[in-house]
Amino acid sequence: MRKVKLGVIGCGHISGIYLKNCSENFDILQVHACADLFLELAQKRAKEFNIPNVYTVEELLSDPEIEIVLNLTDPKVHAEINLKILESGKHVYSEKPLALNKRDAELIIETAREKNLRVGCAPDTFFGAGLQTCRKIIEDGWIGKPYAANAQIIMGHAFDAMHPKFPSLLKYGWDPLFDMGPYYLTALVHLLGPAKKVAGSVGSVQEEFKVSNPKSAFFDEVYPIEAPLHISAIVDFENDVSATLQFSKESFGYTPKLEIYGTEGILSVPDPNFFGGDIILKQSNGEIKEFPYSHSFTEDARGIGIADMAYAINSGRNHRANGELARHVLDISFGILESSENGRFLMIEAQCEQPEKMPLGLKYNHLDN
Ligand SMILES: NC(=O)c1ccc[n+]([C@@H]2O[C@H](COP(=O)([O-])OP(=O)(O)OC[C@H]3O[C@@H](n4cnc5c(N)ncnc54)[C@H](O)[C@@H]3O)[C@@H](O)[C@H]2O)c1
Repeated sequence: MRKVKLGVIGCGHISGIYLKNCSENFDILQVHACADLFLELAQKRAKEFNIPNVYTVEELLSDPEIEIVLNLTDPKVHAEINLKILESGKHVYSEKPLALNKRDAELIIETAREKNLRVGCAPDTFFGAGLQTCRKIIEDGWIGKPYAANAQIIMGHAFDAMHPKFPSLLKYGWDPLFDMGPYYLTALVHLLGPAKKVAGSVGSVQEEFKVSNPKSAFFDEVYPIEAPLHISAIVDFENDVSATLQFSKESFGYTPKLEIYGTEGILSVPDPNFFGGDIILKQSNGEIKEFPYSHSFTEDARGIGIADMAYAINSGRNHRANGELARHVLDISFGILESSENGRFLMIEAQCEQPEKMPLGLKYNHLDN
């Protein structure tokens, strides 16, 4: 198996699990270098995971040994960095969202196409045992004909002001639609296929937030709420399933829910922010059945989408967490915002294919048979 060398830009919070999995669990990948605006963060990660090179962003992009660059920066610079990576002649794998507007998403896909490079994008939780088993359950006919779905994530940490990045959480990119939405929307496209049209209703309880928590580092500051913090939507899929969505950071706690309704059963899908979780089927005869996993990867395998892309580069097949899928999910999200403004259903223009299922019976930490 030819190893594919990886460079990582952005060595903050989420880089830990990516670097662990990419350097220790997926043999096809070799982490060659890391970079961050703050050199000391890159140095810390390099030491932790034995990464041979700590670079500036420019140095990383000019190292000819690196084939894929993983972008783990802040959402507001994702598009700019994704484009720089492609311009440097390397494949890009970005954390979500791929971009914060449709034009940038389009430009990223077009640039990659022109340069014959690949675009990959998180989330890759749909590779996990939970969502792969659910896909098999639906396709094996356990719930009959699926006709509806319900996806909900109700959170509240935006308002406790104890989060070190609290002011960012009120901006686009960290808001529920672009931060949590991709997990649910990607899971739905994986389970049901592409979406057809969308209607949304979005808002925020307050226009600005004054931090009243004396324990917060931002105590007494006032911040504008730039992105809507609660989102309701209807998404109709090509296969005639109609899904209702609620994504919110206006309450408290963490309440995830994803259910698929069929003529013969109701499937309770694990939280798509994770790789595993309970899979419960309520059948039309009243029986409630807990399903065992048919697939592997039950623990946090973030980075599996990059490993899949590396396998795909070596064999020439398509990779699953691809740019078209990410752009389709973004199109649904922008559709929700636009529809909320103009009060009409909108057709989803950016199409994608339902990602290939993972094969059954894979060897430990291998992605192709
Ligand atoms: N934190 C999580 O639990 C989590 C989970 C899943 C996905 N994500 C996603 O991962 C991404 C990063 O999240 P995070 O929590 O690690 O954020 P973070 O703020 O902890 O880390 C981002 C890092 O990127 C660096 N950076 C920003 N701009 C840069 C630039 N122009 N050049 C080089 N480095 C730059 C920052 O210095 C920082 O170290 C986000 O898109 C987020 O949505 C985060």
